[in-house]
Amino acid sequence: MNIVLIGIMGCGKSTIGKLLAKKLHYDFIDADDYLVNKYQMSIPDMFAISEDYFRQKESECLKDFIEKKNTVFAMGGGVIKKEGNAQLLKKMGTVFYLDRPIDHIVNDVDTSGRPLLKDGADKLYALFNERKALYESACDYHLINDEDANKMVEEISKKIP
Ligand code: S3P
Repeated sequence: MNIVLIGIMGCGKSTIGKLLAKKLHYDFIDADDYLVNKYQMSIPDMFAISEDYFRQKESECLKDFIEKKNTVFAMGGGVIKKEGNAQLLKKMGTVFYLDRPIDHIVNDVDTSGRPLLKDGADKLYALFNERKALYESACDYHLINDEDANKMVEEISKKIP
């Protein structure tokens, strides 16, 4: 039984994922960190080759993730872009979409190391509008994250068997 967190950059996947893993005594995997480790290349360097190159590598990791047990995953914000990934995410575990109001995110998201935000966090509004339907259709549960991280951890814990 795994827990898969999806949502736009800065929505709280890593913060909530770490707290949740601790509470459940699960492992925690940040998909971006896993990718960087596996291919020994930074995310900006992968994007410098092309976004397609990054997406290809990102999707390859999902096959590794399906094999894991008792793990909380914080996925990269764009993982739902590639066709077929939504099914792989569901195979990995129960998928939670953390929907944090963009106005909350733009003020505090760290844009360094996030190539899609190199021109500023305002780009998030456009990315969110492009992707929201994909997040909604890829998830088992759609949760609004507009309070503190511990509240989300409680909500997610209640939904898992
Ligand atoms: C991306 C989100 C990032 C990272 C990459 C692309 C995206 O992950 O995978 O910069 O397309 O939204 P986080 O959502 O963990 O920041």
